[in-house]
Amino acid sequence: MRQAGRYMPEYRALRQKYSFLELCHTPEAAVAASMLPIDMLGVDGAIIFSDILIPLEAMGMNLQFDEGKGPILSDPIRSRSEIGRLRAYDANKETRFLPDAVRMLKAELAGRVPVLGFAGAPYTLACYAVEGKTARHYSATKSFMLNDREGFKELLFRFADAAADLLIAQIEAGAELVQLFDTWAGDLMPDEFRAMALPAAAHVIERVKATGCPIVYFVNGVGGKLEDIASSGADVIGIDWRVGLTEVRQRLGQGVVLQGNLDPCTLYARPDVIAARVRDVLAENGRGPHIFNLGHGIMPDVPVAHAKALVDAVKTFGAPGGYA
Ligand code: CP3
Repeated sequence: MRQAGRYMPEYRALRQKYSFLELCHTPEAAVAASMLPIDMLGVDGAIIFSDILIPLEAMGMNLQFDEGKGPILSDPIRSRSEIGRLRAYDANKETRFLPDAVRMLKAELAGRVPVLGFAGAPYTLACYAVEGKTARHYSATKSFMLNDREGFKELLFRFADAAADLLIAQIEAGAELVQLFDTWAGDLMPDEFRAMALPAAAHVIERVKATGCPIVYFVNGVGGKLEDIASSGADVIGIDWRVGLTEVRQRLGQGVVLQGNLDPCTLYARPDVIAARVRDVLAENGRGPHIFNLGHGIMPDVPVAHAKALVDAVKTFGAPGGYA
């Protein structure tokens, strides 16, 4: 959930030396960014520093990050005939910097905490490839999906294999758990999610599970789709903050491993309020297996001390019996 990022002065210092994409492309620099939350916050896992859009660049799309504007792909794919522009890519060649960074991070950590890998889920990658940017309504993506069902599925499965290849390369390099980010799939009508986003995500999950590595499936906006998401085959279900864990447990049961789900804006509160909210999430979860996390990415302007207060509260109250 963007452990390393602009809220950290040390990250902003790294960005004086490297553009965002240079950071992703340079293993030494990506490892330095990945280490910041370990050293500064004491989190229990090291997320490799990268971005979900890296495979789109490797498939030949022109990716740029403009300051303050987010990602721009200047040559979006709006129809089935344009899918042919996407090149086949080898995750250990065109994106070799990523498995290299995983190997380097693993050596640097020497077993202190596990390395976590990630990739974008097919529907979310399609949103960026079709819109060319972060959009408000994803209208171009949905028009493509509604008007050419088979063409859109072809695009989704191209990205499913691209994401699976990239996750498997990270696993082979030493990642011990991986997360699939479906940032925009929560915005689909439930039957469209079931027909389009879910089968493509399940394909990625199936390929990853064949390696034996556990996988988290995070959909931003899970509330209306919990049962379908639970059927994806993922080992862990990532939950955003719009639905309470009590309801999630009622619907999915005590045995499902959940990840989440504090509202990222909670980190604007005072440390004592953050601690109280952490307790609330732990209490709502009850006794089921749970990976504490934010419900989505950390905001770029929260104080580092507040992120540290969150980690400390999880360690205090999350210990067995800590909140009972
Ligand atoms: O250290 C870590 O935790 C890994 C970091 C990470 C980044 N991107 C680095 C990043 C992760 C897990 C991602 C995933 C990602 N990237 C997602 C899925 C997660 C989610 O939020 O649902 C998405 C949608 C993207 C695409 C993306 N990358 C956007 C929309 C932006 C712009 C965001 C903004 O606020 O400007 C990025 C840029 C980005 N990716 C930054 C970081 C640290 C900020 C870049 C900078 O330094 O200027």
